[in-house]
Amino acid sequence: MDLSKFVRPHLDALHPYVPGKPVREERNILKLASNENLLGPPVSVVKALQKAAERVHYYPDDGSVAVRMKLAEKFNLEPDMLLPVAGCAEGIYYITQAFVDEGDEVVVSHPGFSIFNIAGAIQNAKVVRVPVKDDFTPDTAGMGEAVTENTKIVWLDNPNNPCSTIVRRPQVEELVSKIGGRALFVHDEAYVDFVTDPSYASGLEYLQEHENVIVLRTFSKIYALAGLRIGAIIARPEIITALHKVRMPFNVNALAQAALLAALDDEEYHQHSVAMAVEMREQMGKLLDEYGFRYVPSHTNFLLFDARVDCVELAQEMNEHGVFVRPMKGAGLATWVRASVPSNVVDCYRFADTLAVCQQRLLERKGGGPAR
Ligand SMILES: Cc1ncc(COP(=O)(O)O)c(C=O)c1O
Repeated sequence: MDLSKFVRPHLDALHPYVPGKPVREERNILKLASNENLLGPPVSVVKALQKAAERVHYYPDDGSVAVRMKLAEKFNLEPDMLLPVAGCAEGIYYITQAFVDEGDEVVVSHPGFSIFNIAGAIQNAKVVRVPVKDDFTPDTAGMGEAVTENTKIVWLDNPNNPCSTIVRRPQVEELVSKIGGRALFVHDEAYVDFVTDPSYASGLEYLQEHENVIVLRTFSKIYALAGLRIGAIIARPEIITALHKVRMPFNVNALAQAALLAALDDEEYHQHSVAMAVEMREQMGKLLDEYGFRYVPSHTNFLLFDARVDCVELAQEMNEHGVFVRPMKGAGLATWVRASVPSNVVDCYRFADTLAVCQQRLLERKGGGPAR
């Protein structure tokens, strides 16, 4: 029987999300392919998890009430403006399912976070990609121009993944007013904690004035909770009510809820996590400079750089040396690679030295040419 005939036809053209290579073996792997936080989870979280593990025979709190209350206090918002989700990725699916119909349009920056596109494509929506500018910052003016009467959502990952750049407050404000009441505007701020530039503003600031703004937060990065899956959607209560209609029951598991409650109390870890990312991105930048690789100045916990060789081949070569990085060919950047920051200087050197050796090998294999 041809089972493919049962699949919704428009899914033929859809490519599933490509995750970073997982670490499965016990080899000495330096995994820099998925923008994870290599500090590891806070000790306070591990303790909370041990306690919570004894109660996993119960379903989790379906509304994540304690988490919602705690986040409401942290962000100084009413609890009905918050929806905890199993990672921002789940939040992106919910937002798309609730608001985007077949034939609607969504506007994204390209490159940008690929889940925006995948969620739109599942709904059979038209994904309108607006290329980033030459300096790798999202073209917010172009995104505003791309809004039509069919647009339902404008997605802005700010900072942008994979570019690591930010859009500053005046440009975001311009985009929000250009959209007006015509579409929803989602400000995905997965890396917000790592931004030190004072001209950047969280979407929480736009939320006060603009009813159509939705903010996405993840706790995967700053608190190193990626494996547990927890984030939050922040928006006006009418939007949250609509999202509850598409939400999976018990969407945030009990361990994730317990972990976040502990993490939110751990101010010391938060500060350490930010300081480490800032220090390590500077260190990595310095080493890339020393080896002569061009990179985009980063506002995140990862860097995007030009390896000047085929990025897929380079990533394969580096994999074999135990250093996992993410080739960006799929995003249209044939020689560019994304790598998250290690947790210490020794690993920064391991990354940079491995990169230089592997690039040199590829160049030699292809018949020479100057390394840099
Ligand atoms: C811009 C952006 N948004 C959302 C996410 C997803 O975060 P989560 O782990 O909460 O699903 C990522 C993860 O890499 C990201 O880069």
